[in-house]
Amino acid sequence: MTTDQFTFTVNKTDGMARTGEIRMPRGVIRTPAFMPVGTAATVKAMYPDQVKALGADVVLGNTYHLMLRPGAERVARLGGLHKFMNWPYPILTDSGGFQVMSLAALRKVDETGVTFQSHIDGSKHFMSPERSIEIQGLLGSDIQMQLDECVRLPCSDEEAERAMRLSLRWAERCRIAFGEQPGKAMFGIVQGGAVERLRIESARELAALDLKGYAIGGLAVGEPQDVMLRMIETVEPHMPKEKPRYLMGVGTPDDIVEAVRRGVDMFDCVMPTRAGRHGQVFTKHGRMNLRNARFAEDTRPLDESSKCTASNTYSRAYLHHLVRSNEILGMMLLTWNNLAYYQELMAGLRKAIAEGRLEDHIGEIKEGWAKGER
Ligand code: GUN
Repeated sequence: MTTDQFTFTVNKTDGMARTGEIRMPRGVIRTPAFMPVGTAATVKAMYPDQVKALGADVVLGNTYHLMLRPGAERVARLGGLHKFMNWPYPILTDSGGFQVMSLAALRKVDETGVTFQSHIDGSKHFMSPERSIEIQGLLGSDIQMQLDECVRLPCSDEEAERAMRLSLRWAERCRIAFGEQPGKAMFGIVQGGAVERLRIESARELAALDLKGYAIGGLAVGEPQDVMLRMIETVEPHMPKEKPRYLMGVGTPDDIVEAVRRGVDMFDCVMPTRAGRHGQVFTKHGRMNLRNARFAEDTRPLDESSKCTASNTYSRAYLHHLVRSNEILGMMLLTWNNLAYYQELMAGLRKAIAEGRLEDHIGEIKEGWAKGER
């Protein structure tokens, strides 16, 4: 059942892990959730119906890409992003700060916001925290992210502190710009590089703003997995238990399992979709690169036990041929398989937490990966 309000309920915990539901007018997000990335108003190589059928309750859109093309005002005139892309369920939008940093040319950050040149046509743009929220509103996003500044790791403590404090000030401005919107949410983003003291301060200050949810940003940006996990462990006690926690841009199946174990509720990553367009597949037996010559006459499907047609029907030999020939169907089938695997992984984690057997379940998952492809 949906509601006219944005609510989060934790139904069951197992260790630090939680399973629950985020409810909002456009639907229910079962957590822990993986959000397929639909940067440019499309989850690349997938039909929206297919994405939903795999069990995805929410997709992610990007402020940065959509403001540049086709433009936020145009999407609004066309009835909003849900209608535009034919996805009537919840949409979370990232604020743009991270994408400006990774994609745009000649970017400049100051107190007022970020100035940058489009990676598409070189045109000059300015985005303030208020404009980011305005754009996310024009898109009709259900869960909007504050504008933040994410620094690459490694970086100096001074740099991490400067970006963290700027992000805190921008969080307050975004909260005011967002105001009260029943049924929608604005999330804050914890920053602070790899410095525990900064991470704790960021989490505490954000918690004081009483936002609807909290993300952990600035991770999976070049640091080893143990640093990322230590940062999650550091901030977890300072993140409100009754609010959803979202680890941005993460990650591999192993990263996700380890973060769920440490209390994270939401994830997004281009990995399953991007890897699928480059011949890489994820299955319960681990990763495979379908470009590899050893698959040229392999008649087995990717995973005969999967419920997904892409995984249980087509031979690896055929998929190898499609990938080597750069055929569109190869990208479609591999993306489909990968998103199916990620959604199955999340469904399995939710069930295991609900049944109080998460550690055993994780042991089984890792055993499958370790055994390798058969
Ligand atoms: N996506 C991955 N990491 C980040 C981050 O730190 N901030 C934002 N806004 N998006 C992200």
